[in-house]
Amino acid sequence: DASDTEKGPFPFYMLKEINEQPAVLRRLVQDYLDESGKPVIEADLLAALDQADRLYILAAGTSYNAGLAAKSVFENLAHIPVEVGLASEFGYNTPLLSKKPFFLFLSQSGETADSRQVLVKVNQWGYPSLTMTNAQGSTLSREATYTMLLNAGPEIAVASTKAYTAQIALQTILAKALGEKRGVQAAIDFDARTQLGLVANGMQTIIDEKDFINQLAQNYLATTRNAFYIGRGYDYAVSLEAALKLKEISYVQAEGFAGAELKHGTISLIEDGTPVLAIITDKRVASHTRGNVQEVRARGAHVLTIAMEDVAEKDDNIILDNIDPLISPLLSVVPTQLLAYYTSLNRGYDVDKPRNLAKAVTVE
Ligand code: G6P
Repeated sequence: DASDTEKGPFPFYMLKEINEQPAVLRRLVQDYLDESGKPVIEADLLAALDQADRLYILAAGTSYNAGLAAKSVFENLAHIPVEVGLASEFGYNTPLLSKKPFFLFLSQSGETADSRQVLVKVNQWGYPSLTMTNAQGSTLSREATYTMLLNAGPEIAVASTKAYTAQIALQTILAKALGEKRGVQAAIDFDARTQLGLVANGMQTIIDEKDFINQLAQNYLATTRNAFYIGRGYDYAVSLEAALKLKEISYVQAEGFAGAELKHGTISLIEDGTPVLAIITDKRVASHTRGNVQEVRARGAHVLTIAMEDVAEKDDNIILDNIDPLISPLLSVVPTQLLAYYTSLNRGYDVDKPRNLAKAVTVE
């Protein structure tokens, strides 16, 4: 069973957990969608969400990035405005809240103190909340009004991988459920079962190409001190997580940028050989990101492209299977996880235990 705590044939837990992602998605489909593809979600939770006029998603680290990736999913499928906040900022600098807020806490461990301090306030204010977590009985799960479990099995590597994709997938299912309840056509049309199945298959394709991705990591990232991910829209959201993964475990100074923002500052950092990793999955912005690729190439950047089949060009390095671009972070993140993994491995670091970081941070 993939849910055990043994490394098995894998040299590091991180690689094991990357490998488990297709199975984790299939399990979520099984646990949260019925045979006909209808979400199976607690009725009280859906009723509370339906009454809300705004969803506040709060989290830290990778879980925060999973919230950023899901914002568009909720807004498109459920027509609910979403604000995504860093828990550490939100509690002490609370924005003006809407009239009927609903709070969603994303936390792999369910123990992050920065998130808990907000939940304590939410409970004092008397607003409803949901914790999505991988840890049954965790503090955030006990103290929130509702809990949804990721059922991803123990995540042991400090750098989070399968929890990120599980959080996005589960939020997608929840968004579909809420959208259907509200009669939103986009939610009715969104076939979560099929789409998440396509994602699982697409993940497996990438995982099967891991030796090739190791080669790319060697060619592009072996000795660099910095690297930039760029993308627009959904690809921007995943760029932030891709950069976090790389910096956490390989100590490469990495940042994710919205493609167009390059020209407002970052392009001054591009030198001969600077790695720029472009993520391109969405037709609406593909040509714009291609334009950014040309701009940085003209200044000497060493460009690696990750593109979805529909918008791919001949020279792209990594091609992703076609899935609905709305949930493309679920798939486009996987090669970036592997690039981070191999960069750390090739530099001789302890991939699972990066310096100065802890799996769960229980102090504010
Ligand atoms: C720590 C971990 C990160 C994680 C963050 C939030 O900083 O090193 O990998 O993303 O906490 O953790 P949570 O358990 O709340 O998702």
